[in-house]
Amino acid sequence: MRSRLVRLGRSGCGRGGGRLPPPAAPALPPPPGRNGGRPASSLSRGRAHPPTNTTPRWGGPPPPLGGAAAAAGRRRPLSGPPTPAAPPPPPAAAAPPVPADPYDRTALTVIGAGQMGAGIAQVAAATAAFDAVHVADGRPGAAAAAVAAIGDRLDRRVAGGKMTAAAAGTAKGLLAALDGVDAGAIGAASSVVIEAITEDAGAKADLFRRLGDAAPPTTLLASNTSSISITRLAAAAAVGGHPGRVIGLHFFHPVPVMRVVELIPALTSTPSAVAAGRGVAAALGKTPAVVADGPGFVANRLLMPYINEAVGVLAAGAASRNDIDAVMVGGTGVPMGPLALADFIGLDTCVSIMRVLEEGLGGGYKPAPLLVAHVAAGWVGVKAGRGFYTYENGKRVA
Ligand SMILES: NC(=O)c1ccc[n+]([C@@H]2O[C@H](COP(=O)([O-])OP(=O)(O)OC[C@H]3O[C@@H](n4cnc5c(N)ncnc54)[C@H](O)[C@@H]3O)[C@@H](O)[C@H]2O)c1
Repeated sequence: MRSRLVRLGRSGCGRGGGRLPPPAAPALPPPPGRNGGRPASSLSRGRAHPPTNTTPRWGGPPPPLGGAAAAAGRRRPLSGPPTPAAPPPPPAAAAPPVPADPYDRTALTVIGAGQMGAGIAQVAAATAAFDAVHVADGRPGAAAAAVAAIGDRLDRRVAGGKMTAAAAGTAKGLLAALDGVDAGAIGAASSVVIEAITEDAGAKADLFRRLGDAAPPTTLLASNTSSISITRLAAAAAVGGHPGRVIGLHFFHPVPVMRVVELIPALTSTPSAVAAGRGVAAALGKTPAVVADGPGFVANRLLMPYINEAVGVLAAGAASRNDIDAVMVGGTGVPMGPLALADFIGLDTCVSIMRVLEEGLGGGYKPAPLLVAHVAAGWVGVKAGRGFYTYENGKRVA
């Protein structure tokens, strides 16, 4: 069964991995239970956002949850910071209480429908952690292709006995594809946005600037960047006056399999945004590890120099591609050798991460020339069919 696709006016152009211009405005449905059902277009104008310390738009009694999650009878799935038990009632003249967690998390939009964005969307749909899961991409057709591929993967899980047909049907029903990235419409329709576009600091900062300007202050903005400063992205989002709701949520590939996420507070992140990030991670079945905002965070500060060095060893002729990987798999017990892992991650992403490390930490982190050359040739790994190895339909053939 195909999921419902919201097909929107395409905008943005260019090849995957490139920077994309702002698209034409799509018309997104508002998330269930939010904004009294007003059309998204009426919610995305300018910067007239309410201040964060007022009762949020969904303040008062919690709205009923709609969609498949409600049909499944679940409660609101995401938890924020711990709620104190039975606080005493405020005095009559007291100001309205400031909610401990202002983030409503009913609808997720993942921006970037590549390897990571599709993985995050798959997990969000499969866990039914949100009432709607939008997938947006600037490359025309990419989001729809990702949603279709997620459907195929869910079908395979059903065929393999790992998921019920009913659960897969529910998951597919939550998914919707968006062509183009209209920040206003996405902000109005999403309580959480996870950015997973190409590892390009300029493109990400531009996207966060547009999201910061257009999305209500109660929309949590997260980046899945592998290495780029979250504080920098938060500063870009500060154009809307609310950098505190920007955090890093660094998932690992493949998202349905890997259990940990790096949760990276920016210098400016509010405690409630960090708590909301924990809630999102937990609802997606991941364990958050809070790490500081530095180049490559923890995982890629350790992993990328290792991969880069393996490429240097290959270039030096010290061993063949296969032997380098075989030594590391058979000798250290890692499941994949460094060159196969580089192909799996994407060599373009590896080079981008190395450049962030080099900029932040110094010349010792210069990307290996052979790695850069592979990217220049378009041999960026599994997703291109060729990297250090050759692939057909994602399977290594040589
Ligand atoms: N590949 C990994 O193992 C891995 C792991 C963790 C995090 N990440 C990070 O996740 C992000 C995505 O990586 P990926 O491997 O999915 O890359 P990918 O190349 O598979 O997908 C990137 C997607 O972003 C889209 N895109 C590019 N610029 C855009 C823009 N300006 N607006 C909208 N869409 C745009 C492209 O069309 C493409 O579909 C990167 O920041 C990367 O560092 C990657």
